[in-house]
Amino acid sequence: MKRLMICVAATAVALSGWMAWAQKPAEAEPNFWMKKKLESSQHILAGLATADFDQISKSAKSMNNLTQIERWTRRTNAEEYRTQLRVFRFANEDLVREADKKNIEGVSLAFSQLTLSCVNCHKLIRDADKSDSAAKAPAKDAKVDEAAPK
Ligand code: HEC
Repeated sequence: MKRLMICVAATAVALSGWMAWAQKPAEAEPNFWMKKKLESSQHILAGLATADFDQISKSAKSMNNLTQIERWTRRTNAEEYRTQLRVFRFANEDLVREADKKNIEGVSLAFSQLTLSCVNCHKLIRDADKSDSAAKAPAKDAKVDEAAPK
């Protein structure tokens, strides 16, 4: 009987461990946020085509709130990833500024910079997936841009 109790207890412990593990994938859903981002960028493009600065500004701001991609900074090529994240944020803030000024050229430029940051960050992720171990270690003195304003 005592043995059975121990066995049951051990199974319960193992099961709760497994359940905690099994729940993990549910929290890792970057694609949901990225799809939202894709939607926002499509709205921005529509706003650009019709010179609808309100729509541009609104969509850029909602994209700014999607900071979920941050968690990926723990990847091996974290340094490059953070750089792309900064480029993305800068382009996005620029987009809001230029939209508020109703400057269609400025908005177009910021939008193409934003698009480039999508492409470059995804390229980085694909490269890292291909060969995680081959990813370069960050340079020793790569602290320089740590002090850059957010
Ligand atoms: C700083 C990095 C970064 C930037 C910038 C970025 N993304 Fe992503 N994106 C990611 C990561 C990480 C994933 C998840 C990839 C994976 O599942 O391995 C992702 C995935 C996606 C997906 C989902 C793909 C799929 O398989 O369903 C879409 C769509 C997407 N991004 C759109 C965009 C758009 C549009 C932009 C620019 C407006 C953008 N992303 C900018 C990091 C980034």
